[in-house]
Amino acid sequence: MQRYRIQFPTAESEHLDQDEVTFDLHEGGETTRLRFHDYDEIYRRPGLYEQIFYDRLQCRSPAKVASILRSATEQAGDLTTTLRVLDLGAGNGIMAEELRRLGTARIVGVDIIQSAADACERDRWGLYDDYVVCDLTDLDEASRHELEEWSFDCLTTVAAIGFGDIPPLAFVNAFNLIRPGGWVAFNIKQTFLEHDEHTDFSTTIRELVFTDYLEIHHLERYRHRLSIDGEPIFYYAIAGKKTADVPLDLVLPATASN
Ligand SMILES: C[S@@+](CC[C@H](N)C(=O)[O-])C[C@H]1O[C@@H](n2cnc3c(N)ncnc32)[C@H](O)[C@@H]1O
Repeated sequence: MQRYRIQFPTAESEHLDQDEVTFDLHEGGETTRLRFHDYDEIYRRPGLYEQIFYDRLQCRSPAKVASILRSATEQAGDLTTTLRVLDLGAGNGIMAEELRRLGTARIVGVDIIQSAADACERDRWGLYDDYVVCDLTDLDEASRHELEEWSFDCLTTVAAIGFGDIPPLAFVNAFNLIRPGGWVAFNIKQTFLEHDEHTDFSTTIRELVFTDYLEIHHLERYRHRLSIDGEPIFYYAIAGKKTADVPLDLVLPATASN
């Protein structure tokens, strides 16, 4: 796999949100400053995403979320091998590698940007049974039909909730594409579950986690990855069974005020 010359800023980054962190990429005698969320630029360079987040910052979230999905389903007496998974915020497909190891029956990736689908086809061809590029906050009829046809009974979303990525409405719309009784496994930054945090997303997530729409089977605090200063960033990994569709009015007022 191709390697890149990257350099993180020397200054402390504590005041920056995760999506605001930048790094310098040196290539062909030029230096480009990119943000962690410049996914188009990152995905179009094979191996850059993996080098930053998985090699250097030691992200372990896809493996963690897959492992809690496996243990939760096993303990409930369900099989992972029959699961039909919607992987929301699929990016270049790292979660699909983990889901393939679990032997899930079908995996469909969804992402909002075409460059994610292109990178996935380039680097992990064939891992997803389908990959749909769409906006789940405003789902067009064709994409809705395509997704509904898969009859999903599992939703995964890894390292994609909050921080300018997947908004509450997109997550809830994906949640509602899963049949009741299906599995949901995802991760969130630990502060989203803390009661002194009052962002729209943390409120929605707490409603979801602590009310009746999701029956929690596994909740675990773990080290998601390192910050660029080498500090651990903690997340919760959550796996549970969906009990019912989430009414959209749970998120629409919050979404309108975003
Ligand atoms: C940090 S990456 C995580 C990718 C992958 N799940 C992983 O663990 O490596 C976040 C992904 O979420 C996608 N994303 C952001 N907003 C989204 C939205 N509204 N709907 C679907 N995907 C979105 C981004 O395009 C990006 O590919």
